[in-house]
Amino acid sequence: MEVESLQKEIKEKISKTKNLNELEEIRVYYLGRNGKITNILKSLKDLSLDERKIIGPKVQSLKKETEDLIFNKKQELEQENLIPKIDLTKPAKKLQKGHLHPLTLVEQKMRQIFSGMNFSVVDGPELENEYYNFDALNFPPNHPAREMQDTFWIKQENNNVNSKQRFLLRTHTSPVQVRFMEKNKPPFQIIVPGKVFRNEALDSGHEINFYQLEGLMVGKNITLANFKFVIEEFFHKFFQGEKIEFRYRPSYFPFVEPGVELIIKYKGKWFEVAGAGMVHKHVFEYAHYNPRDFQGFAFGVGIDRLAMIKYKIPDIRLFYESDLRFINQF
Ligand code: FA5
Repeated sequence: MEVESLQKEIKEKISKTKNLNELEEIRVYYLGRNGKITNILKSLKDLSLDERKIIGPKVQSLKKETEDLIFNKKQELEQENLIPKIDLTKPAKKLQKGHLHPLTLVEQKMRQIFSGMNFSVVDGPELENEYYNFDALNFPPNHPAREMQDTFWIKQENNNVNSKQRFLLRTHTSPVQVRFMEKNKPPFQIIVPGKVFRNEALDSGHEINFYQLEGLMVGKNITLANFKFVIEEFFHKFFQGEKIEFRYRPSYFPFVEPGVELIIKYKGKWFEVAGAGMVHKHVFEYAHYNPRDFQGFAFGVGIDRLAMIKYKIPDIRLFYESDLRFINQF
């Protein structure tokens, strides 16, 4: 009877064991040199032969069974140790999520504000021809902006071609004005966000590629007062109600008359943010409009410039260096 209750006790203990140390203690307790089973086996010699014949095999088989149980349990525990422990309460590892570039964020905001004022968004080619980039915008034939130093020209096999066949990377978004007017009749109001290129010396405020947003509103009675309202409304929305002052300085662009430069005061500093003016009558003529029928305003804003002001970025080149330490701040 002693053997059977011992067998039950051993089974229970082993099945409750949680780690290898405990299991080893159990092994020593029963099978060690001074272990319970070992001692019973040792004491068999004191029994009579008949008793020995009955109890002997029982204890031997208990010893064997205990060894097997311990062996199996050991394997089980070792297996468990190989499986990594998962802590379900631990916060998950942060996933690297992609996000929009600051210039894209600013462009999207600009599109959204102008769309809210009923402007449509129009696109034009970055690889432009001389006609739309200069001629149709009333640039005189020998204007310095057309020269090699200011513009990236596409190499020409044959120089005997007209200006629609001479290609360059557009220097501003204004060529889309005439492209759009050739195909559409007033009244309309459009914006043209896009990439532009200039062969310029780099500094903290000047890149060789950057972004502009062109605006054009044409109708029967459009005046500079309309421009003033639209652009001031835009800037108030763009800077979310922060205090801004506006200053309009006379300026020259061949495709407007009169021309102005818009300067805004934001957080105590003045920034030049846009060129603008009333569309020149020659530009209307290039678009096959009668300048007596229509008038309108146009403007061009530097998107990079606005992003620099909004996010207090000291150097325009940071936008184009793809340095994640910069980009990931947005
Ligand atoms: C123009 O490009 C005219 N097309 C703007 C215009 C449109 C005038 C319609 C009248 C009517 P301007 O060269 O000043 O103008 O450039 C406009 C804006 O682009 C500047 O205010 C500035 O914010 C930005 N810009 C100009 N050159 C660079 C440059 N190298 N790097 C970054 N931004 C520039």
